[in-house]
Amino acid sequence: MIITGKYPNLRLRRNRNSDWSRRLVRENTLSVNDLILPIFLIEGKNKRQSIKSMPNVYRYSIDRLSEILDKAVSNKIPMVALFPYTNSSIKNNQGTESLNEDNLVCRAIKYIKKKYKNSIGVMCDVALDPYTSHGHDGLLYKGNILNDETVKILVQQSLIQAQMGCDVISPSDMMDGRIGEIRKNLDKNNFKNVQIISYAVKYASSFYGPFRNAVGSKSLLKGDKKTYQMDYSNSLESLREVALDVKEGADMVMVKPGMPYLDVIKMVKDNFKIPVLAYQVSGEYSLIYNGINKGIIDKSTIIEILTSFKRAGANAVVTYFANQIAKDLK
Ligand code: PBG
Repeated sequence: MIITGKYPNLRLRRNRNSDWSRRLVRENTLSVNDLILPIFLIEGKNKRQSIKSMPNVYRYSIDRLSEILDKAVSNKIPMVALFPYTNSSIKNNQGTESLNEDNLVCRAIKYIKKKYKNSIGVMCDVALDPYTSHGHDGLLYKGNILNDETVKILVQQSLIQAQMGCDVISPSDMMDGRIGEIRKNLDKNNFKNVQIISYAVKYASSFYGPFRNAVGSKSLLKGDKKTYQMDYSNSLESLREVALDVKEGADMVMVKPGMPYLDVIKMVKDNFKIPVLAYQVSGEYSLIYNGINKGIIDKSTIIEILTSFKRAGANAVVTYFANQIAKDLK
């Protein structure tokens, strides 16, 4: 404990007395540089489709992607994260669409990198859940999610995304050992500068519900993801997850969901001193959005909550609010 004096010599309210003084002593600030915007993609033409579970978030067909990307670029948001809605007719047990070089994500990466060059980063999820008929992130065999067999596919998926121009590969599948395999194969194929953000600490969470609806996997999901995503009762285990992924070559790590896991963000940051990202997931977004919409809480709660991630030690936050609040941060 640092002894700072005592009352009445010391009045902590003095520093809070005026706006300029509060700004002067501020420990953490949120800027647009701290925001990553997720974008949902959909096949077809001229589509900007609303999503029932996520108010004010849309699925965009590639020909209308510029509507949201132009905003992100002019807001100076550093990176977007792409998520495809896949028609159930092309899903199957193995999620083979993930390896189709002409799938929705691949076409979107090419479009964005051609049009926007390096003015914004593109990050892509690596996992099979948008493509499997059972909604799991890996191969399902006799009720089990196969680890090593899944990793082989994830490596291929990563290579294809890198080949399309994806800047950041982000495995969100929680298979063991996938970061090392992906790094090794990226390097072997001359993608030495493609970054990896590992969803190293991803909990089996009910807060993902609206997202699963947005990508069309919710009604398909057989069972739950508890055999690969982490148990929300655990925090020490997150250190082992991060240690492994960092050793295997992750450039940054993600903690997910966000607000209910601030303790974990702080612990990871304190222990590793590496870039840590937080994901304010779909359930958090929709709850906050609806709370504001109904007049229960004020819009200023968004920045308050996002700042809490910075306070906990996150370098940036993946948030569906990114474009909506960017102007308030200027
Ligand atoms: C799937 C994936 C999920 C999210 C991002 N990638 C859901 C899940 O694991 O079931 C959730 C994001 C959100 O809820 O906003 N690999």
